[in-house]
Amino acid sequence: MKHADVIIIGSGIAALQLANKLTKSLNVMILTKKDITMGNSYMAQGGVAAAIAQGDDPYLHYLDTLEAGAHHNHAEAVLEMTKGAPEIIKGLWQAGCSFDEDEQGKLLLGMEGAHSMNRIVHSGGDATGKHMVDFLLANLEENISIEQSVFVYELILDGNRCVGVKAKLPDGTNEVFYAGHVVLATGGCGQVYSFTSNAESATGDGMALAYRAGAELADMEFVQFHPTLLFVDGKTRGLVSEAVRGEGAILVTAGGKRIMEGIHPLKDLAPRHIVSQTIYDYSKKGTQIFLDVSAIANFSARFPTITQLCTEHGVDVEKGLIPVVPGSHFIMGGVKTDLNGITSIQGLYAIGEVAYTGIHGANRLASNSLLEGMFIGGNLADWLNTYGAANSLPEIQVIQSQYFSRPDLPDINELKKRMMDLTGIVRTKESLSAQKKWLDQLGLNEWFEASLDHLTAIEINKLFMYITACMITESALERTESRGGHYRDDFPHEDNYNWMKRQIIHQRKTVKDGKHEFNQTAIAT
Ligand code: SIN
Repeated sequence: MKHADVIIIGSGIAALQLANKLTKSLNVMILTKKDITMGNSYMAQGGVAAAIAQGDDPYLHYLDTLEAGAHHNHAEAVLEMTKGAPEIIKGLWQAGCSFDEDEQGKLLLGMEGAHSMNRIVHSGGDATGKHMVDFLLANLEENISIEQSVFVYELILDGNRCVGVKAKLPDGTNEVFYAGHVVLATGGCGQVYSFTSNAESATGDGMALAYRAGAELADMEFVQFHPTLLFVDGKTRGLVSEAVRGEGAILVTAGGKRIMEGIHPLKDLAPRHIVSQTIYDYSKKGTQIFLDVSAIANFSARFPTITQLCTEHGVDVEKGLIPVVPGSHFIMGGVKTDLNGITSIQGLYAIGEVAYTGIHGANRLASNSLLEGMFIGGNLADWLNTYGAANSLPEIQVIQSQYFSRPDLPDINELKKRMMDLTGIVRTKESLSAQKKWLDQLGLNEWFEASLDHLTAIEINKLFMYITACMITESALERTESRGGHYRDDFPHEDNYNWMKRQIIHQRKTVKDGKHEFNQTAIAT
């Protein structure tokens, strides 16, 4: 049994920003299920958006964020974040985090899809996440300890207060960690889809943990599919950043036809869901789409990470054509929080991609995710620094369950493929109902609340992916309109009359008569 003032589950940008900004008198423990550098933040090629350029204004960044989010965003939250963005970047830069500069030593500002101005700050060309994570890691103080290969599988509750977590250690044994403040910073769930840009660790753990504990989650139907993942031998092999199109690359067929002509005024830099849907239509007909990068001078110097990725998979960027398909990239929904990361359970917080703050609306604007992680991570640090350690934690006796049955878990590759085909880029009532029926017939409802003490980390991870897949499918079926990342072929337009600002909220209710009560629909404030 171990104790800390604050436990942070996960080690991405939001987690490290929080850890760096917490007061040194707090004893902080970071628990991460893999190696600290194996998450999505470390792999992030895109940069951080901030209205720094002459002629730019946070208000324009705000408007672009709302437009990309199909006006489903929490407008006040967007305003706060876009106003704070320039200070966040300047603060990091002045503290010594290296960002790409021009010859005069000013920040280089790139362009990405759906931004009206050049406002994307990068580091190391296309290695922004790695540079930022390395910088934040190097600045951690002695009050922060990091335990790697520790898989958190349950939140410990005392009534409606979270007081700690149970975790699987590398040797397979269980350990209990107590803390007055428990922060989910577990990232997203891209791995529930067969085509994804996400790290292997992005399996929806935080969403499933929160759901099992009874916290509120919102907007799980809004999944962003990135248009350009490197596609070799039938598999996605990593991201080809939107910044490549920002620098002039175009999407073409093998015969050189520009596929975004006539589809959207912004052509190759149209909002991601439109580009993804267009590529998807071609791939369904068996046509491979390529990113033509031949117009970009010094491609390999500008995009070293992408060049290396292509080389590793036998694609020669000098030839100018990179084969691509769309795949899951980011989820806009998640554990519902306010701007300080506070969830519906006392003592439990969520920051980064696992959280729903309302900032991204129905579709995230490019390069707003590292920014949101830094912004909310910093806010939570301010809040916890004021609140301090929780002094009188109740003594909870954790009983290891004597439950010995095991769930009959699905083949995870089948689950991922079905999510891609049926709950993916283009959805219909038929496809979603078929997926829901398949998920339901697996009969795993009792495992939404049963003890997991005796299961292995691999089994629990599969269960977490299953729970996350259920939430995405259920809410995608319920939302009978198209908006942002959620596209229904049978309801192809936004339905502002019925759905504007409405949210699908998930909150676990007890299993009754073998049936699980799953969904409530609520009106967002
Ligand atoms: C990209 O570089 O295309 C991804 C950046 C992002 O998703 O914000």
